Amino acid sequence: MSSSYNIALNFEDGVTRFITCGAQEKVLDAAFRQRINLPMDCSDGVCGTCKCRAESGTYDMGDDYIEEALTADEAAQGLVLTCQMIPRSDCVVAVPVPSTACKTGTAKFNGSVAAVTGMNDAAYELVLEGLAGAPAFLPGQYANIGVPGSGQHRSYSFSSASGADRMTFLIKHVPGGLMSSWLSSADVGTPLEMTGPLGSFYLRPVTRPLLLLAGGTGLAPFLSMLETLAQQGCAQPLHLIYGVTRDQDLVLVDRLEDYARRIPGFTFTTCVADPASSHPQRGYVTEHMPSKVLHAGNVDVYLCGPPPMVDAVQRHFKAAGIAPASFHYEKFTPNAVAAEPVPA
Ligand code: FES
Repeated sequence: MSSSYNIALNFEDGVTRFITCGAQEKVLDAAFRQRINLPMDCSDGVCGTCKCRAESGTYDMGDDYIEEALTADEAAQGLVLTCQMIPRSDCVVAVPVPSTACKTGTAKFNGSVAAVTGMNDAAYELVLEGLAGAPAFLPGQYANIGVPGSGQHRSYSFSSASGADRMTFLIKHVPGGLMSSWLSSADVGTPLEMTGPLGSFYLRPVTRPLLLLAGGTGLAPFLSMLETLAQQGCAQPLHLIYGVTRDQDLVLVDRLEDYARRIPGFTFTTCVADPASSHPQRGYVTEHMPSKVLHAGNVDVYLCGPPPMVDAVQRHFKAAGIAPASFHYEKFTPNAVAAEPVPA
């Protein structure tokens, strides 16, 4: 048995904070020890004020709480009382209040530019090092990166796995854009300030087949998920459809080929929307989605792409009469990220 576990607390406003929890410690106490005041009144399993949802992990709830605080049905659905919950593994816990209500907020951290690689005038890969003090994150989440000298920040999904020595981001090239302009002449060693991790678009426990749908640089969070699954192992089939607008927007395909070798159940398809493309698969992701990757609805779907892509995929499922077991998506525009999980 481990002497402590990592608990990700995901707040209602998208902020995530990680705490360590001793093997015999209750989550509420561990959070308080780390200056996060989770909702509570009695701390005794009576009031129900500390009710949260355990999204992954194993834990003991003991039998010292009363039915009025947490019913058997609620417990069966994964609801927990943090004042009673003793983790038996790393866990992800959704907290139904904003981080500010718990006297916490996004972590600030620093890194420095190790490399910037421009790809086909379509995207940049930004590699950061010197990450002492960088927080853990869940695969799929994002950070706000300050654009040096501008007083502004931009939001980008991590494309590396949490805990790596180097952190990477895949960033769309926007002609004249604030971050793109800075990246085009960024110097190695330049310090960057970031806040995060943020976002509710992250990989849940993999208990059924996965369908991953990436639009353009919406590939980034999936690279983080795939790296995590490559390291942890994955027993389920997973299929990625990566759609772009122009031929030159297809980047990092060699990275996907590498994951296809490292993850036994992983396959992927690429497609290009431009009718003039010479790519073998032309069209949108919905046109390259055979029914077998939908597993008759027994599939968790993750989508990261522009808003019209989200709408098109939802229409496609409806027309096909498919209701996926879960559908998580992140809509992004070049200057913003907005995440919304959609229950099945
Ligand atoms: Fe009252 Fe947990 S704080 S039940």
